[in-house]
Amino acid sequence: MKTVAIIGASGHVGFRLVQKLSSIYNIHCIVRDTDKRDFSDFNNIQVFKVDDISYTLELAKAINNCHAIINAGYIWFAEEILQAVNINKSSIEHILFTGSTGIFTKIPSSSAELKREAEQYIVDNYQIPFTIIRPTMIYGHKNDQNISKLSRTLKKTPLFPLVGSGDKLIQPVFIDDLVNAYEIALFDEKFYNNSYNIAGAEPISNKELFKKVSNSLDKKVIFISIHPYVISIIIKLLALFKLKIISYEQIKRFQENKNIDIEKFVQAFGFRPRSFDDGLKQMKKSHVL
Ligand SMILES: NC(=O)c1ccc[n+]([C@@H]2O[C@H](COP(=O)([O-])OP(=O)(O)OC[C@H]3O[C@@H](n4cnc5c(N)ncnc54)[C@H](OP(=O)(O)O)[C@@H]3O)[C@@H](O)[C@H]2O)c1
Repeated sequence: MKTVAIIGASGHVGFRLVQKLSSIYNIHCIVRDTDKRDFSDFNNIQVFKVDDISYTLELAKAINNCHAIINAGYIWFAEEILQAVNINKSSIEHILFTGSTGIFTKIPSSSAELKREAEQYIVDNYQIPFTIIRPTMIYGHKNDQNISKLSRTLKKTPLFPLVGSGDKLIQPVFIDDLVNAYEIALFDEKFYNNSYNIAGAEPISNKELFKKVSNSLDKKVIFISIHPYVISIIIKLLALFKLKIISYEQIKRFQENKNIDIEKFVQAFGFRPRSFDDGLKQMKKSHVL
């Protein structure tokens, strides 16, 4: 049986990868905090504590005897991971990176810039076959900071503000579809040295998304369109009281289309990620909403 190291195994994506892949591979779970998740229910698991990705000597030990690495942490870990692979001299056959479609934003963003630089670093420096999977906004579990968080807010309020008209497009991806993509790509040469965008089946507007979530909660919510300029003033006023509900960058991102062409993904992976409606149905069925 092959052995796969999962960096960020205690994270949302990482932990689901452990759940999914531990029946197929030996797994090295690489975590900062060994108490955050309980891995004892799974077979073929070894847990390695690496306090920070920059501790490359520890990371090198944790990937010993592994055939592949999945980075479910941040893509800007690429340089440290390569250092660890070089220290270890291990025969890693494949490295899967989690990127983000956030790199396509036109809005100045330090995090998007770091991710773009990391992708370039991988292309320029990795001799080992790599695959970059770039999800859009991930949802579908109770701790997601996106749809689950939104649903908790909508449950509590009869009125909800929209930045601008809410007509910009968004295309969130269900977490199980993302995890499936990793399973398909792992050790398959077809995916080597390539990158793929993954998103939900089709884009919807922000306003539609909010309505779909409130409908699935059987909750009547009135959405009020507020001009972005007015929201900027509210942010400034709240900042005087050291309160922050949303950042300027988030406001700008809300006014940008975030839809993604997924045909390259669909052709290569042989499945189309589920629609937002189907994702919400699944969340209801599994009592996440
Ligand atoms: N969530 C989204 O909507 C979204 C959208 C697009 C792309 N992504 C990408 O998907 C990936 C996973 O996202 P997620 O939602 O699963 O996030 P997450 O739960 O925060 O997972 C990130 C993981 O990285 C680990 N980590 C963070 N900093 C570290 C460091 N300095 N050293 C070692 N480990 C470190 C965290 O450890 P701890 O568990 O100890 O905190 C965690 O396990 C990220 O690359 C993110 O950019 C996410």
